[in-house]
Amino acid sequence: MVEFTLPKNSVVAEGKVWPKPEGAANLREYRIYRYNPDADANPRIDTFFVDTGDCGPMVLDGIIWIKNKVDPTLTFRRSCREGICGSCSMNIDGVNTLACTKGMDEIEGPIKLYPLPHMGVVKDLVPDLTIFYEQHAAIEPWLHAGANPEKERLQSPQDRAKLDGLYECILCACCSTACPSYWWNSDRFLGPAALLQAHRWVQDSRDEATQERLGYVDDTFRLYRCHTIMNCTKVCPKGLSPAKAIAELKNLAIARQEA
Ligand code: SF4
Ligand code: SF4
Ligand code: FES
Repeated sequence: MVEFTLPKNSVVAEGKVWPKPEGAANLREYRIYRYNPDADANPRIDTFFVDTGDCGPMVLDGIIWIKNKVDPTLTFRRSCREGICGSCSMNIDGVNTLACTKGMDEIEGPIKLYPLPHMGVVKDLVPDLTIFYEQHAAIEPWLHAGANPEKERLQSPQDRAKLDGLYECILCACCSTACPSYWWNSDRFLGPAALLQAHRWVQDSRDEATQERLGYVDDTFRLYRCHTIMNCTKVCPKGLSPAKAIAELKNLAIARQEA
C-alpha cells in the first residue's frame, strides 16, 4: 500500500478562542486561518467575536476591527476598501472574493476566512503571489508600438469598445486561484488572470505585437491547459469573464497557426 507523508505544517489545528468584547449588543463570529512562518507550529483557526456596532458592514471592516481592537498581529492585505486595488482578495466562506465588497450580511453563520487557495502562505491571510505577478509580467502588459509617433495614436470608438470587459481587471487573483488547472500546473499554465490580460493587449488596435503575443501563449501548457471549467468567470468580483477571453484567445491562436 502506498503511504503518503504530509508536508510539514500541513495540518490545520483548532486555535485560540479570543474573548468576546464587553458590552457589545451585536456580535459576529469570525473564524480566521492563522499561520506564522517564523513559529514552528501548524496553522490554526482562531475564533474572534466582532462588535458589529463598532465597525462598518463589510467583511474587511470586521477584520480591521479585530486587528485594531483584539489582535494586532493578524496579517492581511488591503488598501482601497472600494474594490479597486485587488489586494484584499481571500477565500471567504469557501469562495474567493474581495473582503471589502463582501457584506457580513451576505454570509450565514460564522465568517470563515482563509488565504487564496493553492498558493504558498506568507502569513495568515497573505498568499505568496510571486508566480502570479511573474506570469503577468511574462505577457508584457504594455503597448508595443515602435518609436515615438509624430501624433497621437488614435483609436476608433469601435476599437476602444473591444477592450471593455478586459481592461477592468484589478489583478486580485481570485480567478487564477479558483482554477483547478492552475492549482495543478501554476508553474506552466499562465492562468485566467494573465491570459485575460494577454487578450486585452491582443485586442488593442494600437498594439503592433499581436502575432508575437499570440505566438507566446500558443503553447500546450501556457494556454491550452484551460479546460473551460469556468470557475474563473464564476468568482471574478469585477464581473469579468476570463473564460470567454481565453476562448477568444484560443480561436485567434489557432487561426494564426492556419494562416
Ligand atoms: S475556464 Fe479555464 S481558466 Fe477558467 S477556471 Fe476553467 S480551466 Fe481555469
Ligand atoms: S479577471 Fe477578475 S478575478 Fe481575475 S484577476 Fe482580474 S479582476 Fe480578479
Ligand atoms: S481593499 Fe482594495 S479591493 Fe479590497
